[in-house]
Amino acid sequence: MRKSLLFCSILISAGIVFACNSGNTGKTASATIISQDSLVKRGDYLVSIIGCDDCHSPKRMGPMGPEVIPELRLSGFQATGSLPSTEGSAVKKGWILMGPGLTATVGPWGTTYASNITSDSTGIGGWKEEQFIKAIREGKSKGLDGTRPLLPPMPWQNFAKLSDHDIKAIFAFLKSTKSVKNVVPQSVFNRP
Ligand code: HEC
Repeated sequence: MRKSLLFCSILISAGIVFACNSGNTGKTASATIISQDSLVKRGDYLVSIIGCDDCHSPKRMGPMGPEVIPELRLSGFQATGSLPSTEGSAVKKGWILMGPGLTATVGPWGTTYASNITSDSTGIGGWKEEQFIKAIREGKSKGLDGTRPLLPPMPWQNFAKLSDHDIKAIFAFLKSTKSVKNVVPQSVFNRP
């Protein structure tokens, strides 16, 4: 009697272990698929709420102010764009000026054109994840060693505090965006 009870309990335990194992295997497989998908979704969410569009997306003037042009989203200052002259402007008195689409900024450091961060090769399409992390964490242009620092108003000092997971999520989302071909002019750094 005792022996058969022991045998029974061994069988039940084995059954539980088997059930747990097979359950786990299934869960791991689906969790991996969901996590890839959710990485992009999280990146989409972060890009939207942090406000990357404020500076990186060209805009047209609407009744309530600048509105993102959806087909040019995140493609930066347009290669075909131009800026009004700043000769004799308030910049000399210490003001910082932004172009009407908020994709160009003129200040005491020079003129900054917001980069194309779409998935196009003229954007971050050819970037490796390590480059993106370096650009965000260390403020290095193109995310490469030996390049100039990223200029204002790119607030990389704030974004440097994002978790690894969130930076990777943003990169995954940017890689998934509609590619927009646009070679942004070089920012002009007048070191004070
Ligand atoms: C307040 C304006 C502003 C906001 C908000 C902003 N950026 Fe930028 N960003 C810029 C400007 C301007 C540049 C170009 C800086 C330069 O040329 O030195 C830039 C450059 C970059 C670069 C480097 C591109 C390169 O070619 O080196 C990356 C990557 C980037 N931004 C990603 C982002 C992401 C992602 C967000 C949102 C999480 C964001 N930026 C929000 C203004 C902004």
